[in-house]
Amino acid sequence: MSQKPRSYREKSIVFIGFMGSGKTTIGERVAKKLYRDFIDIDEEIEKEYGMPVTEIFRVHGEETFREKEKEMITRLSTQPLKIISVGGGAFMNPDIRDHCLENCIVLFLDLSWDAWKERLSLLVASRPVLQGRSIEEIEELFHKRQGIYADHNSKFRTDHLDIEEVSDYLISSLKTSWELYD
Ligand code: S3P
Repeated sequence: MSQKPRSYREKSIVFIGFMGSGKTTIGERVAKKLYRDFIDIDEEIEKEYGMPVTEIFRVHGEETFREKEKEMITRLSTQPLKIISVGGGAFMNPDIRDHCLENCIVLFLDLSWDAWKERLSLLVASRPVLQGRSIEEIEELFHKRQGIYADHNSKFRTDHLDIEEVSDYLISSLKTSWELYD
């Protein structure tokens, strides 16, 4: 039996962007303002394994993490009305990317390299992908990843904005698109 396609308003919203670009903080804020449930995929994976992401990488390996990430995202993003933050590497997987673009509204939180590198020292301990890399290698990864975030529904530059400003701006854009498309 074919299912009625979900209206734009009902679709879950997925936040993408590089590590530390504010997906969880802004996602949580937007969810609260829209009275929706917030899901952080990394947190869900951590709950399932009972350990932080760095430990999952160390004990089980990145491949296991990536498989779980794909299973969680494809399952949870199919539900309506959720606000979901996915890890910065999730969109490297074309199946995840296609699934999210087909079923959800994908919002890219875009931060310049200059603004991002100020945050690096706060991120390294909890981000295995950054560990053991030089600043030049991280910058290369940062720019390479911009290519995979290029597939999105809307992009928000967050460089000079605080959480409240980004969330409010994002919600007003969403409301405009809901009116336009539904
Ligand atoms: C990763 C980003 C992390 C987390 C894992 C791998 C990546 O999530 O999923 O450490 O490959 O970019 P955040 O983007 O929330 O930091």
